[in-house]
Amino acid sequence: MFITWREYKGKRANSLRCHLRHSYLEGSFKKETAKYLGCVALKPSKPEREVFWMQVKSALDKLSLTTEQRLKIEGAIAQKVPRGKHEKFITAKSDEHYTPKYFLEAVVESMGGIDLDPASNSKDNPNVPASNHLTLEDDALKHDWAGRVFLNPPFSEVSKFIKKLIAEIDSGRVTEAIVLTKSDTRTNWYKQLRQNAQSLCFAEGYHRFGDADNSATFGVLLSYFGKNQARFREVFKKFGVCSGD
Ligand SMILES: C[S@@+](CC[C@H](N)C(=O)[O-])C[C@H]1O[C@@H](n2cnc3c(N)ncnc32)[C@H](O)[C@@H]1O
Repeated sequence: MFITWREYKGKRANSLRCHLRHSYLEGSFKKETAKYLGCVALKPSKPEREVFWMQVKSALDKLSLTTEQRLKIEGAIAQKVPRGKHEKFITAKSDEHYTPKYFLEAVVESMGGIDLDPASNSKDNPNVPASNHLTLEDDALKHDWAGRVFLNPPFSEVSKFIKKLIAEIDSGRVTEAIVLTKSDTRTNWYKQLRQNAQSLCFAEGYHRFGDADNSATFGVLLSYFGKNQARFREVFKKFGVCSGD
């Protein structure tokens, strides 16, 4: 399944029509189905984006999709038309939790810059100020990563992204990394972080992701990988306890 965008020339203004397409073989014939999901202005305002996402939600609700398919489809659409406040009614398990600015500023202060965001919302309008971005369309798990990495993994694939990060650090390509995750010590990926990271910072309080109306219901953990753990602790101690303090 994949998303396509077609420009539609209207009487007053042009707009983009979004379709979900599915190609398959029937015998030796290639067939394709297309489901119309919604229509949006070329440069939509925030209310226009919200209306568009309501159309998308209503169209996707009618299809029998797995959670993984739904997250991937929504992620692909969000790269073209970013989501905002509507997010809370798209899905409670959204992959699109954009990192608050104050964490990103601290990441830059700690590492001196970000070379790669391997789980980026968009190359054109990225939330993370990195020099390079890999998005859902690239599939970061299929690429090499390098340099100083900031990672806020898609919540549907946290384990795979953390395993990949550790492999990239072991290869020597990734020199330093900060990972933002939920603070959930029950999970296997938490054990991977604890065993491999040089410092963990348990951020206190509530944090609001992207332009969501409400704070997240979960706590936040920032894990540091690299040789400058003293610098990381110095910068991140304002958020909460950092291991190694
Ligand atoms: C939690 S959001 C983080 C967005 C941004 N990096 C930030 O920190 O604000 C995770 C992002 O990863 C993207 N994503 C999902 N699967 C991906 C994949 N296989 N490769 C790259 N990016 C992916 C999603 O579309 C989503 O925008």
